[in-house]
This record gives sequence, structure tokens and C-alpha cells, in this order.
Amino acid sequence: MCGIVGYVGRRQAVEVAIEGLGRLEYRGYDSSGIALIGADRALTVEKRAGKLVNLRSVLAARPAPPATAGIGHTRWATHGAPTDRNAHPHTDCEERIAVIHNGIIENFAELRAELENDGHKLASETDTEVVAHLLERFAGDGLAEAMRRVCRRLEGAFTLLAVSVDEPDVVVGARRNSPLVVGRGEGENFLGSDVAAFIAYTREAVELGQDQVVELRTSGITVTDFHGAPAETRDYHVDWDASAAEKGGHDYFMLKEIAEQPRAVADTLLGRVGADGQLMLDEMRLSDQELRDVNKIIVVACGTSYHAGLIAKYAIEHWAGVPCEVELASEFRYRDPILTRDTLIIVITQSGETMDTLMAVRHAREQRSRVLAVCNVNGSTIPRESDAVLYTHAGPEIAVASTKAFLTQLVACYLVALYLAQVRGTKFGDEISQIIDWLGRMPAKVEEVLGTVEPVRALARSLAAERCVLFLGRHVGFPVALEGALKLKELAYMHAEGFAAGELKHGPIALIDEGLPVVVIVPSPAGQRVIHDKIVSNIQEIRARGAKTIVIAEEGDDAVVPYADTLIRVPAVPTLLQPLIATVPLQVFACELAAAKGHDVDQPRNLAKSVTVE
Ligand code: M6R
Repeated sequence: MCGIVGYVGRRQAVEVAIEGLGRLEYRGYDSSGIALIGADRALTVEKRAGKLVNLRSVLAARPAPPATAGIGHTRWATHGAPTDRNAHPHTDCEERIAVIHNGIIENFAELRAELENDGHKLASETDTEVVAHLLERFAGDGLAEAMRRVCRRLEGAFTLLAVSVDEPDVVVGARRNSPLVVGRGEGENFLGSDVAAFIAYTREAVELGQDQVVELRTSGITVTDFHGAPAETRDYHVDWDASAAEKGGHDYFMLKEIAEQPRAVADTLLGRVGADGQLMLDEMRLSDQELRDVNKIIVVACGTSYHAGLIAKYAIEHWAGVPCEVELASEFRYRDPILTRDTLIIVITQSGETMDTLMAVRHAREQRSRVLAVCNVNGSTIPRESDAVLYTHAGPEIAVASTKAFLTQLVACYLVALYLAQVRGTKFGDEISQIIDWLGRMPAKVEEVLGTVEPVRALARSLAAERCVLFLGRHVGFPVALEGALKLKELAYMHAEGFAAGELKHGPIALIDEGLPVVVIVPSPAGQRVIHDKIVSNIQEIRARGAKTIVIAEEGDDAVVPYADTLIRVPAVPTLLQPLIATVPLQVFACELAAAKGHDVDQPRNLAKSVTVE
């Protein structure tokens, strides 16, 4: 939700902090701020409501003094409106300590009352500010020990960074249920909500565990638990560089990420198919017997990742013959799902930090179910807390709207379904090989779609004045419809709904009005013919009631031609794989429509890339 950066070293901390915040701004953009400790032990705090550009303007007009230690924050507001006053960093009464925070401190009201009783003056409406004043209370113990003592008093989720004028060459961080990674440099060290914060300086990272405090100095890092006992960490090398987190000539990150999809799909397949055509998914860390014993799969995720899960269900049940449910993480956690040792939970998450999904993982593991994470971000919390992880290798996804992560999640789920089929013997080897062969051809098919999206752009621009767009699909086209609608909502701020086309007649058809644009995803006629024919009938039904039909159908499907006001052609592929190509025009459509309306495509209002609060 919020982005956090910390630095100690020989460079000017303000430059490192602003560079890092630029790369983390996708995590939240309600306000931004920095705190620096100068050589003269003076604390400088600058913060502004609004996007990072506002803070940059302040610093351009009033340059920060030299400082080689500092922290920076970009905010997604939870407690307190997005104002200058509520922007982070927050300071103690004496303005000797500055703190930034990501997460929610659930017992802040009680702590605030206690501090005010003690005479502390709190200036903001945030939950964060209590931490600065609690650190002040324990300041005599040194910043790291003070942080440990404070963390023991806090409830909720938090990543905290603090600096103090008493220790000008130290940054202290802490984490519980919220992300924080260390970047290891030569004579300098970094902290960030994710590696993007410091990728311009180092690709050597250290993964921190739950409930840990880290003390960052130029000479090294020290990590303990909240009681001061030395803690274990894991070093890893980041396999992408700063250029991967830049726009690379595209107008928006989203466009770049859409364009990267053929490569991302290929990378997700890489190394997972043996020379003999057999799938190799050792990462699942379940023996063949354990995979045979699985009697139910529950896929749990949020947002776009949930839509990937809905599609996974069709593949898992069709290929592997295992009953599969799909559930929103926020709902799964707060009911009583029937879970046993033989229930396999597959959680899907791009960021690996989504709090709803993390809570679902913990809940499932408490019930002794095994959890497989399908995740994009190495070193993030959810893979660390799961029994096994299948990384999607999409590379960094910066735009808030998920695109390449979605396609690679689908590929990972297809691989899981086929691997289960291979181990459980539910499909013949040559059937599995055929699909794997098709998967290998998908990067080229996605590329083909990307080469034909110009008319989709023109269509999107022509619809910029519309207030509502509906999306219809059947079978795997239904989750694609949901995904198309979600993209339009989050980017174009338009009313958009996805429906199962068969449900139309049970209510939604009343929404159809003269000129209403309706996007219909048509499955391959070569697949289940009956589904194809039924959706062609649905197109006729809505057209008869005045809808403007925008039809996505495969090359050569002539049955749709008379009923399509606009026809978007996609290559013919097996039905279950169609979402990999049918989604692409919908991504382009939403992106272009948002741009035509003058919206910030990469940073839509009210949203943040990774949702680390429940
Ligand atoms: O990081 P996750 O995959 O767990 O995130 C889940 C959702 O927050 C995410 O997919 C969200 O719906 C996207 N912004 C949609 O484009």
C-alpha cells in the first residue's frame, strides 16, 4: 500500500530516497515525504500531499541539506485524509526522531490516549504518529532497542523505518505482516518495501522474516527478533535490473507490460518441460503419492488473480479431474471452509503481499492443508509462508492494473493442472503433450494479437463518452469478461460489469438499452460447439434490444459476423487456452479508454498496487 525506502551510505540520501520513491510510487500516491539526518545531526523533514512531483517541486525550490542517512515514504491513506499534515514522516515531540510506516496499527487509539496522558503532543490523525512518540519514550536505549520495545506494544500490520539525530548513521526498520527487504551494497545499505526501491544501486537483497528488527549501518546490517535475539535471514540475487522497472519508450508502464506478455509467458514455461515432453514441477514439493491423495483444490486470490483462479478451475477439473473451488481470499478467511490434509490450497498473487491472501494462507495452514503459492515476486511474504511456490517470472509489474502477471498466472495454473493430470494419470500422455505443445506456441499467438490491436484502440477512443460497458462470456470466457470489466472500472472509472452470458435472461438483460456497448467473448466453435452456438444466440438477443455488440471471436468463425457491430479477431487456439489471447484486446481497450479520458493509466485514483491491509 505505502512505499518505503531507507538508506545509509556515502551518497546523498535525498537522491537515493527520491529515486526509490519514484520506483515505489505505484504502491500509493496520496502523499510523499522524506526525513534526513545531516552530518550536523540536524533532522530535516519535507512532505507534501499529492503525487511525488509535489515533493520534488518543494525540494527543487528548497534543496535538502547534505545527508548520508535518510528515509522516504509514499502513502496510500488509511487513517487520516491525504493532507500535508498526515503525510509521513512523523516526528516525536522534540523532533529528534522521524518515522514512516506501511500498514495499520490496530491499537493506535489506546496508545495515543496513553501518550497524550503522558503529555505528548500528537499533530496528525494517523495511526503512525504514536510510534514516533513511543520511540521518544525509549530513546535512551538506542534506536534499535527502542524499536524492539515499541514493536512489542503494537498490534496489527506494520513496516516501520526510523531515524534519530542521536544516531546519525543508522536507519532502523521493523516488520510484521507487511513487506520490507534489505539491499546490500558496498559501504552502503538500503531498505525498501520491495527491491524496486534500490534496484538502481544493488541487486543483492536480503529477505527479512516475520517480526524482525533490522539495524542498517554503512558497515553492515544486524537483524534480530522483537526481543533482541539474532534472527535468520536469506540472501538472494534479483534477476532483473533497473531497466526492467522503466517505461522503455512506452507512454505508460501498462503498455510496456502488455507488450512484454509474449516474453513473460515464454519465461514462465521455461525449464518446466523436459526433453521427453514431461512436465517438471519439483517446486510443488509434493510427492506423487501426495498429489494422488489430493481430493479437493481450493484456489484463493483477490482481484485479477482471482479471475486467473476462476479460469484455473476449468483447467484443473477438465485435465486433472480434481474438484476445484475458487474463492475470494477476503471471504475464505472469515467463513469455515472444510479443509483437510488432502485439500490443496492454491493461492495466486502477483505481489505476494496481499493481506487478504496472506491471512487465507495462514488460516489454511492452521487447518493443516497444504498451500501452493503462484506468485511473481521473489522474496515476498506469501511464498515464504506457503508450503511451496511456483514463480511466474513475469518480471516487475509496475502499473497498478495487472496484465502480464495475469497471463503468467494462467500459464502457471495450466502447468499445475497438467502436472496433476500427468501424475494422477487422468489424461493420456499424448493429450498432455499436445496441450504443452500448444502452450509453447502461445507467446507467438499473443504476439500476433498485439500486432492487430490498433482497431481496438480506435474503438476505445470512440467510446470515451460512454458511461457503461458490459462484458459477456461463457465457460472460460466468463472470467475473461470479469477481467475486462475490472480493467475498465479501475482505469476508466466507468461502470462495467462482467456476466456469464447464460445469466443474462435471469436479470441483467434488463440493463440492455439502445446503444449500450456490450463486449462478448466467443469461445472457439471447434471446442464445445454447443457453448459457441448458445453465445451466438445471446449476441442476437442483446442486439435485438439495441446493444452495440463488440465481439471477440476466433479467425474463421463466420457465425458471429452478421451480429457483430465491431468484430475483434483472435487466433484459433484450444478453448481452455483462449483466455491467454482474448484478454489482451480487453487490456488494450481499457488502457486506451482511460488515456482518452485523460486518466493516469499507471496510477488510477484510490488504488495501490499491493494491498497490504485487510
Ligand atoms: O498482488 P495480488 O495478485 O495478490 O493482487 C490482487 C489484486 O489486488 C490485483 O490483482 C488487483 O485486482 C489489480 N490491480 C487488478 O488489475
